[in-house]
Amino acid sequence: MTRKIAVTSALPYANGPIHIGHLVEYLQTDIWVRYQKLCGNQCLYFCADDTHGTAIMIGARDQGITPEQLIAKAHNEHFNDLSAFHIEFDNYYSTHSPENRQFSEQVFNALNEKGSITKRTIKQAYCDNCKMFLPDRYIRGECPRCHALDQYGDNCEVCGGTHSPTELINPKCSQCSEPPVKKESEHYFFKLGDYEQPLKELMARGHTHQSVANKLDEWFEAGLKDWDISRDGPYFGFNIPGEDDKYFYVWLDAPIGYMASCKNYCEKNNLDFNTVWNGDEWELYHFIGKDIVYFHALFWPAMLMGSGFKVADNLFVHGFLTVDGTKMSKSRGTFIKAATYIKHLDPEYLRYYYAGKLTAAVEDIDLSIEDFINKTNSDLVGKLANLASRSGPMLTKKLDSKLSSLDETGRSLIDKLIAVKEQIINDYEKLNYASVVRTVAALADEANRYVEQSQPWVTIKTDAETTRTTMTAVINSFKILTIYLKPILPAFAAKAERFLNTGELAFADIENVLENHTINKFERLFERIEKDKVDAMIDESRESQSTTPEPTEESKAPACEPIAPEITFDDFLKVDLRIAKVIEASAVEGADKLLALKLDLGDIQKNVFAGIAKAYEPEQLVGKMVVCVANLKPRKMKFGVSEGMILAAGPGGPEIFMLTVDEGPKPGQRVS
Ligand code: MSP
Ligand code: ZN
Repeated sequence: MTRKIAVTSALPYANGPIHIGHLVEYLQTDIWVRYQKLCGNQCLYFCADDTHGTAIMIGARDQGITPEQLIAKAHNEHFNDLSAFHIEFDNYYSTHSPENRQFSEQVFNALNEKGSITKRTIKQAYCDNCKMFLPDRYIRGECPRCHALDQYGDNCEVCGGTHSPTELINPKCSQCSEPPVKKESEHYFFKLGDYEQPLKELMARGHTHQSVANKLDEWFEAGLKDWDISRDGPYFGFNIPGEDDKYFYVWLDAPIGYMASCKNYCEKNNLDFNTVWNGDEWELYHFIGKDIVYFHALFWPAMLMGSGFKVADNLFVHGFLTVDGTKMSKSRGTFIKAATYIKHLDPEYLRYYYAGKLTAAVEDIDLSIEDFINKTNSDLVGKLANLASRSGPMLTKKLDSKLSSLDETGRSLIDKLIAVKEQIINDYEKLNYASVVRTVAALADEANRYVEQSQPWVTIKTDAETTRTTMTAVINSFKILTIYLKPILPAFAAKAERFLNTGELAFADIENVLENHTINKFERLFERIEKDKVDAMIDESRESQSTTPEPTEESKAPACEPIAPEITFDDFLKVDLRIAKVIEASAVEGADKLLALKLDLGDIQKNVFAGIAKAYEPEQLVGKMVVCVANLKPRKMKFGVSEGMILAAGPGGPEIFMLTVDEGPKPGQRVS
């Protein structure tokens, strides 16, 4: 029975380029959609640009264009970048669309009628100069805890603490540097708490991965608060019905954008939207990253329940990309844009590499540059393309491009390859692409061993027909492996299909053995990755700290902070700097920038929290000799008491460099 399935990926923000982090998600989804299609299922993939909000309004103003111009440009770039990676949408739309406006109003009105919307006057930071309310990220000031300057209104990049903008010392508007004032305004709230019971039931039915459900339990425990869904003008978004200058908060209309994209597709393709989106006949799945679970597992299903729409059958959540073990970084050149990658490397290398790492678990996946090069060269070139290049040219040149039939050993090789079909299908279905890649690589080894043993380069000299029989098994192995990898490597598969002269292959073709068949001329399938190409890509991605970082991805802390007021020599002498050895290091639950360190200072030990989690893995630190402020008064932090500080330099985020001491001094010795 063929299934009917609608699929979405999260909508990328229009205010930044697509990068290799985003690609984890769009590739994970695309592979799944392609797999469904290859099973003969009807599967539609919907996405769009997320176009509303303050960042886009201000971004456009900074560039001297209208928000509409900005989002049109982003739409083209995003679509081209994603297409270059063979990500194939059935519709790539925009949240700034008439369909989305209509659905947003419809959902809002339905929730309102149901009594799920309430209005309340709140006080917020306002810039009298810019004539706008300031979102937390648009207020900068001194951190109330560690006194680092120029920190965001919601958290400190240096000590990792969270705070409210009212706690910042010397708060300033990030646009004009004027201090904000407090101003009242009436806001609309969605009463999320009303949906606690149905949301709990939804999770109990297995709506999402167990580890995500556990996180949700914590949120249920903490209590579901009303959600502020309105923003005052100036704002780039949809007007709230009946209001002059109030708009839907971008996160209200963003997920509704999934529906708008589907609706737009249905209109163009003569399908009934209600059947596709809202009926039982069609399944519905969302793919998202772990950072936006709150929106997709709480707000979104609650909004749908309250407005009479179906909730998705499952929410698939993936982890974040790291490069060589740390967050993507502009200064290291690992913040790689899709457009930059494509200038240097074949997109299928990355598709294959990510697939080899992806499972259903919500774990971060690491792109290790060295491993990426090795894996590509050993698997794609050495195992897969090799099978074709060992058989194609010989068949064309010496055997009239003709296959014969399988003998017994050939047959048993092919049977072995066919035998894993159900397992592979099941792995794709369960998002366990890593297992697919492992299985196929092992089978490719097997097929290559068969070639070694059959020695066609020897037999061809004396026995054309035996060689043809060998080649028949090799070509059939290659065909089966091509189908298995086709969701991951669509461009490779298209080339292989031309070479195999089969037309488009699907999972249903696995068992059909090619016998007495004529193949086409062999074309090269994969080039080896040369390290200098990767280096060139990283060089091109490397930006100095002075260029403005992406607001959503990296620390905005400046490279160099102003020098603080002078202190006397006596003041300095008060600081007791000691050598300390890190004896334990661990992550701090709930504080993604902090590491908890246990330091050995000779006679005593100290527990210290350090805001270096974005720069170091805990394991890297154990055994390191560092410099510690030994006489700092213990400070109570959210996560415990910190009994000292270690010395480090750098602007923040992943760019923090701990001062370490190599040989010589012992823990506890004074630094002078
Ligand atoms: N616009 C929102 C989503 C709205 S959906 C109704 C958004 N946009 S985003 O551009 O920041 O991210 C889009 C998707 O890419 C998200 O699912 C996010 O988790 C994913 N990723 C963005 N950076 C990523 C990594 N570095 N690694 C893995 N996935 C990442 O959130
Ligand atoms: Zn201002």
